[in-house]
Amino acid sequence: MRNVLVTGGAGFIGANFIRYLLTAEPQVHIFNLDALTYAGSLENLKDLPDPSRHTFIHGDICDSALVAGLLRQHKIDTLVHFAAESHVDRSIYGPAPFIQTNVVGTFTLLEAARQEWSGSGGFDGRRFHHVSTDEVFGSLGPEDPPFTEMTPYEPRSPYSASKAASDHLARAYFHTYGLPVTITNCSNNYGPYQFPEKLIPLMILNALQGKPLPVYGDGRQIRDWLYVEDHCEAIYLVLQQGIPGETYNVGGGNQPYNIDLVREICAILDEFHPQGAPHNRLITHVPDRPGHDRRYAMDTTKIRTQLGWAPRHQLESGLRATIAWYLSHEGWVQAILEQNDYQTWLERNYRQRGEK
Ligand code: NAD
Ligand code: TYD
Repeated sequence: MRNVLVTGGAGFIGANFIRYLLTAEPQVHIFNLDALTYAGSLENLKDLPDPSRHTFIHGDICDSALVAGLLRQHKIDTLVHFAAESHVDRSIYGPAPFIQTNVVGTFTLLEAARQEWSGSGGFDGRRFHHVSTDEVFGSLGPEDPPFTEMTPYEPRSPYSASKAASDHLARAYFHTYGLPVTITNCSNNYGPYQFPEKLIPLMILNALQGKPLPVYGDGRQIRDWLYVEDHCEAIYLVLQQGIPGETYNVGGGNQPYNIDLVREICAILDEFHPQGAPHNRLITHVPDRPGHDRRYAMDTTKIRTQLGWAPRHQLESGLRATIAWYLSHEGWVQAILEQNDYQTWLERNYRQRGEK
């Protein structure tokens, strides 16, 4: 691994991964291609461990000429693909960008890698890593066993359907062309730099502002929460030791009901920010998300036994670190709160649920 192209590196997980990789690999140079949608920000890339080994390129993964030029010009040997439209609720209101970026964009990257790499030295020593989600497997009943790598795909939202399509394309490029593809399907992440449309940062920021904490439906849905740094480590291990053509499930093994997770966030905030206590008075049940998946859970036996990965963070310590991060990054928070797009999103998604 010498010249790494990261897509979507100005977003939540990508920015954390760039920090992780710059520290873990003292020789690599990272080229970061990001379109800077509402979810991406150069603020996420301030104070990198070694900024001289990071080059930012503002552009779209659907631009095939740009992607091909980057692969060629920078002699890219490793591509780590994070760029996506990533929020289920936004995919319900407007699925088109999800198809464009997640499906067409992934196809564009695969095709550019196939053409550029086969024309310059072949696939040896190259890797295309595709970052995906547990949501491709659909929704579990209360007694169902967790998802394994063999679980059939059954996506149920435009977001998860578009990610499923991208996974299928990535696998097809391995089987058809021998492109050295690996895939990770990971559960819900949380941690620093997460855009506050997702559950955990939304609840933290709403609570700090004394705004209602909108819990969808009965709040008894279950996600499998993983601290973002543990996800970065899993991807790094797969890059080093993963076998081309293989998929690895990644998950935290922390599976509270949403409502209990929100209560835990409130309890930690009571301690860190006693002015607003008790924060759980702000919890408000609002109408459910259409087609809301009830439960996700990951069986991570494969990556644990084959690559020796295990999460280092428990949910409580991860939540405490995350809340402390949001409390100590007022400038970052303020910049997002002032974004027109973010306020428009809150209006759109929550007003119709009876919330503001
Ligand atoms: P995010 O929404 O925070 O960031 C996405 C980034 O991609 C942004 O910086 C955005 O500007 C960029 N982007 C979007 N469209 C682009 C385009 N057409 N060209 C170039 N850049 C573009 O997302 P995230 O939460 O960091 O997720 C990253 C990846 O991990 C996604 O593929 C997502 O499906 C996957 N994933 C996320 C989670 C999670 O809990 N957040 C869990 C599992 C998998
Ligand atoms: P989210 O963070 O959007 O991730 P995903 O839908 O990809 O799992 O949501 C996590 C869970 O929290 C999900 O069950 C929906 C729920 N949720 C709420 O109850 N209220 C909210 O305001 C949001 C954003 C999510």
